[in-house]
Amino acid sequence: MNYRHAFHAGNFADCVKHAVLVWLLRAMGRKEKGFMVLDTHAGIGQYDLNSGPAARTGEWHGGIGRLMGRGDPALADYLGLVEQVGLYPGSPALVRAVLREQDRMVCCELHPEDAGVLRRLFRGDGQVAVHQRDAWEAVGAFLPPAERRGLVLIDPPYEAVDEFARVEEGLKLAHRRFGQGVLAAWYPVKARAQVRGLHDAMRASGVRDVVAVEVYVREPLDAARLNGCGLVVVNPPFGFERAMRIVLAALLAGLGTGEMGAGFNVVRLSDE
Ligand SMILES: C[S@@+](CC[C@H](N)C(=O)[O-])C[C@H]1O[C@@H](n2cnc3c(N)ncnc32)[C@H](O)[C@@H]1O
Repeated sequence: MNYRHAFHAGNFADCVKHAVLVWLLRAMGRKEKGFMVLDTHAGIGQYDLNSGPAARTGEWHGGIGRLMGRGDPALADYLGLVEQVGLYPGSPALVRAVLREQDRMVCCELHPEDAGVLRRLFRGDGQVAVHQRDAWEAVGAFLPPAERRGLVLIDPPYEAVDEFARVEEGLKLAHRRFGQGVLAAWYPVKARAQVRGLHDAMRASGVRDVVAVEVYVREPLDAARLNGCGLVVVNPPFGFERAMRIVLAALLAGLGTGEMGAGFNVVRLSDE
């Protein structure tokens, strides 16, 4: 396990993932009944961008550094939460900031040090459980939630060559165990072929109601670079596709790369 998210925190891919996540969480909160969030690859929760690994790579300057202070209403909720947390919020801190008292979160993080940091962050918090545990095992263990309402965020580091295939399997397993759950899996766009493979696999899986949302910062011609990213979302809440066209356009405008092939997609992979 070489990947440490701290080097990449707040980069454009984090911003896309987290802006979509905040929209999904707010949509879940439209109903009074409590829900559970399972964050399968949680990281350390929040990140100091001004020192340590994030400062060293400076990736965040091309992400949250460009978005902060923009007055776009489509990003106001996400950017407001970033400001509220103070440090750059990873998925656990963002989720925690949105949870109501009837909701809860389960975080899994396999890296022992990172899991320790996350555990300390939420020590004494009765709404958050942190497990040093394998994500794929956790999908089997924690689903379905007792509440029968929930959001699963699958956000692996894509270190392993077969990570796209694992995500596909993870989504299918999560759907088998929790058919009505909202499932969101993040993926990088390096080359088009991997993405096409994931989309085709989801189309062929028999899983109903699947949408992919993507932001490209440039045409994916050089597979050694992170050219964009996306999320596959199963059972998206009402209004997702329409809202995403607005949120993704705002992200793209804010990130403002101006490179050839920059754009966004909202693609329905299977019908309801
Ligand atoms: C992309 S980062 C997660 C970022 C986090 N979701 C966020 O948005 O702030 C991926 C994390 O997954 C962890 N990880 C890698 N393999 C794992 C596994 N099999 N099970 C659980 N965690 C894993 C890594 O240590 C890393 O912290």
